[in-house]
Amino acid sequence: MSRPSETPHIDVRYIRDEDLPEWTRAWSTGYLRPAVEGAADHMRLALSDDRAIGAFDKGRCVGTYRSSSQELTVPGGARLPVSAVSKVSVAGTHRRRGLLNRMLDLDLLDARRRGEPAVVLDAAQYAIYGRYGFGPATQMAWFEIDVHRAGLHRQQSGDRPDIELVGADEYFKSAPEAYERFRADQHGALRRDTRWWREATGRNVGPGSTWTEPFYAVHLDEAGDVDGIMCFSAQERWGAMLPQSPLQVRDLVALGPSAERALLRYAVSMDWVSTVHLPFRAPDTLAPHWLGDPRAARITALSDFMWLRILDVPQALSARTYATEGAVVLQVDDPLGVAHGRWLLEGGARGGMVSVTSRSADIRLGVQHLSSLYLGDEAATRLAELGQVEELRPGALRRADALFRTGRRPWSPRAVTGDHYGQAGLG
Ligand SMILES: CC(C)(COP(=O)(O)OP(=O)(O)OC[C@H]1O[C@@H](n2cnc3c(N)ncnc32)[C@H](O)[C@@H]1OP(=O)(O)O)[C@@H](O)C(=O)NCCC(=O)NCCS
Repeated sequence: MSRPSETPHIDVRYIRDEDLPEWTRAWSTGYLRPAVEGAADHMRLALSDDRAIGAFDKGRCVGTYRSSSQELTVPGGARLPVSAVSKVSVAGTHRRRGLLNRMLDLDLLDARRRGEPAVVLDAAQYAIYGRYGFGPATQMAWFEIDVHRAGLHRQQSGDRPDIELVGADEYFKSAPEAYERFRADQHGALRRDTRWWREATGRNVGPGSTWTEPFYAVHLDEAGDVDGIMCFSAQERWGAMLPQSPLQVRDLVALGPSAERALLRYAVSMDWVSTVHLPFRAPDTLAPHWLGDPRAARITALSDFMWLRILDVPQALSARTYATEGAVVLQVDDPLGVAHGRWLLEGGARGGMVSVTSRSADIRLGVQHLSSLYLGDEAATRLAELGQVEELRPGALRRADALFRTGRRPWSPRAVTGDHYGQAGLG
C-alpha cells in the first residue's frame, strides 16, 4: 500500500480553482515551457472534467499531476474504461524526495476506488513508471521517406480521385466519425473527444502554442464515405533550383489498407516534396509496402509508447478476447496490493473468465509485466529471457503467448499537435 512520506510538510492534494494559476506555472516550468499570460484560463477549460493533483510547499506549487477518464480499445474490440495520466512534473528544487510517489499513490488508489480497471500514460522517460506497476504496452515507429527512392511516379493519378483536400471546418465534421469507426477495431486506440478535435484543427489554440495551420485531406470509399483522414504540413525549401521541401504528416488514420495506401501515396507523390516525415505509426505498419521501394521508408525511431498499469485483474483480463482457447494460472506481484494474487485465466475467442484460485501457479510475474502482455504486444517468452517473468510449469510461457498475443500489433495513434515534428505534445 502507500509508502511512508519523506515530505510530511508538503501538502499533496486535489487542486481547487484558485490554485490554477500557481499549478499552471509549476507545470509549465516542469515541462520547460515559458509561463505565458492567459495559460491558467486555458488550462481551466482543459481540466474541466479531470482530476488535477498538486504538491504545495508553503502555498507554492512544486508538483503537478492530472488524470482523466479515457476509453481503451482492447483485443476483440471492447472499450475498457481507463484513467489517463498526464502533466506529471516535480520542481527541480524538490526532486527525488518522493513527491511523485505521493501523487501517484493518491491517484492510483482513487482510480481503483472509482472502479477504473487500468491506467495509461505516455512516458516521457523510460525509467520512471515501471516501479509503479506500469509496463510498456504499445510501441511506435517513426519513418522518414526519401521521395526520390520511393519509386512512385508523380504523373500517376492512382487513387487520387478518391482524395479530397478539405478545409478545417469540413475536417472537423468528418474526421471524428471516421476515427470512431477506426478505434472500434484497433486495439490500443484511445478516444478522441471534441476538445481533442478542436485542438487538432486549431479551434482551441492556447497561449504560447506553436500552432500553424496544416492541410487536411480525406479519403472517400466507393460509397463516398470518409474512410481515411490525413493532416499534414510542409515547408517550401529550395536548393539551387532543386525542390527540397519536407512534408510532415501530423496525423494519418485509415479504416483499411486501401485508404492508407492512397493517402500515403498522395503525400509521397506531391510536387516539390523530397522527404516525408511519418511519425507515430504502428510498429507493424504497412506504410513502407505502399511504396515502390519499401527501403525508401527508413525507420528513424522505434520506441515504447503507451504504458499501461492494470488495477483490477479480473475486470481487465475478462474484457479482452484471446487468440486460442486455453487457461493459465498467474501469480501476480503488486506492491500496491490491488492486482496482487493468484488468478486463473480461462480465455478464448469470445472473452476471458478470471477467478481467484488455489491451484498452483504456472507463471509468476509482476503487475508491470502482466500490463505489458495485456494488449498483446509483448511475449511472456521474451520477458522470461530478460529474467522478468518466471515459468513455474514447463510449457506455460508458450501457452500464455498463444493466449495473449495478437495477429496485428496494438497501436495507439497520436498526432503532432505543435510545430515540432515527432512531438505529440506530451501531457
Ligand atoms: C520525473 C519526475 C516527475 C520525478 O519526480 P520526483 O518527485 O523527483 O520523484 P520521486 O522522488 O517521487 O521518485 C520516485 C522514484 O522514481 C525514481 N525516479 C524519479 N525520477 C527518475 C528519473 N528521471 N529516472 C530514474 N528514476 C527516477 C526515484 O529514484 C524514486 O525511486 P524509488 O522510489 O525507488 O526511490 C520529475 O523528475 C520531473 O518533473 N521530471 C521532468 C518532467 C517529466 O519527465 N515528467 C514525466 C512526464 S511523463
